Formats: sequence, C-alpha cells, structure tokens
Amino acid sequence: MAAGLALAALTGCDVERRKSDAELGLNPQQATGRKIYDNYCDRCHRPDSTRGKKGPGLKGMFQHQYLPHTGLPANDDRVGDIIRNGRPDMTGYGQVLSSQDMQDLLAYLHTL
Ligand code: HEC
Repeated sequence: MAAGLALAALTGCDVERRKSDAELGLNPQQATGRKIYDNYCDRCHRPDSTRGKKGPGLKGMFQHQYLPHTGLPANDDRVGDIIRNGRPDMTGYGQVLSSQDMQDLLAYLHTL
C-alpha cells in the first residue's frame, strides 16, 4: 500500500496515467487522429471509458452494431454525420475538420 502510494507520487500521482501512442499500439494515422480527438472531443467524451462526461464515453463505440447513446448504426458514415453535423449539446465539426482530419479521427475512434 505505502509502496503503491509512493509509486503513484513518483509517476505524477496520476493513477490513470495517460498511455503513450506506442503503448496503445497506434499507427501514425491513428496517432494523428488521437491529436484531433484531444483537441476537439476529449473535453466532452472519455476515450477510455463508457462513463459520461458532458457527452457519453466513447470506449468501444465501434465494437457494437449500434452506438450505445443515440442508437445510430456504428459505422463511419453515421459517425461522420454526427461529427460533421453535431448533436443536441454537441457542435458540428463540418467546418473545422478537413476530410483528411475526419479519416484520421475515425481511424483513431476505431481503436477505442
Ligand atoms: C461540448 C461537448 C461535446 C464535444 C466537444 C463533442 N461532443 Fe460528441 N456528444 C456530446 C453530447 C452531449 C452527445 C449526446 C448527444 C445526443 O443526445 O444525441 C454527443 C454524442 C456523440 C456521439 C454519439 C455517441 C453514441 O453513443 O451515440 C459521438 C460518436 C460523438 N459525440 C463523437 C464526438 C467526437 C468524435 C467529437 C470531437 C470531434 C465530439 N463528439 C465532440 C457532446 C460533445
């Protein structure tokens, strides 16, 4: 216990330490998508949990046929629509993200 606490202190006292891109096994495109996620999505959506923040947690979002919160099909087309057009309480990013950004972001979302 005491050793665990000391270790936590040494590692910045952050038990849920952020994993590096390498630890997550991300390829370069997915790593680029992760940066986009950090910039635009992370403040409302947890990437590593289904627990809600301002929006639903997105862990495992592409692992089921339907998205857990909206019930929309979990595929690139529909998720792309959500990101471009937004949702209630979520602004759309159609004006902000290029189609390359969108592809990179989707590549990362598939790893969650
Ligand atoms: C200001 C907070 C906010 C930001 C920033 C935001 N979202 Fe959302 N998002 C939400 C909320 C709230 C919902 C639920 C809306 C609803 O009820 O349909 C949502 C819903 C979603 C859903 C549907 C989830 C499901 O299970 O149906 C996806 C996918 C999603 N957001 C992805 C993103 C991505 C990717 C980004 C970054 C480009 C982003 N969001 C940025 C608040 C946000």
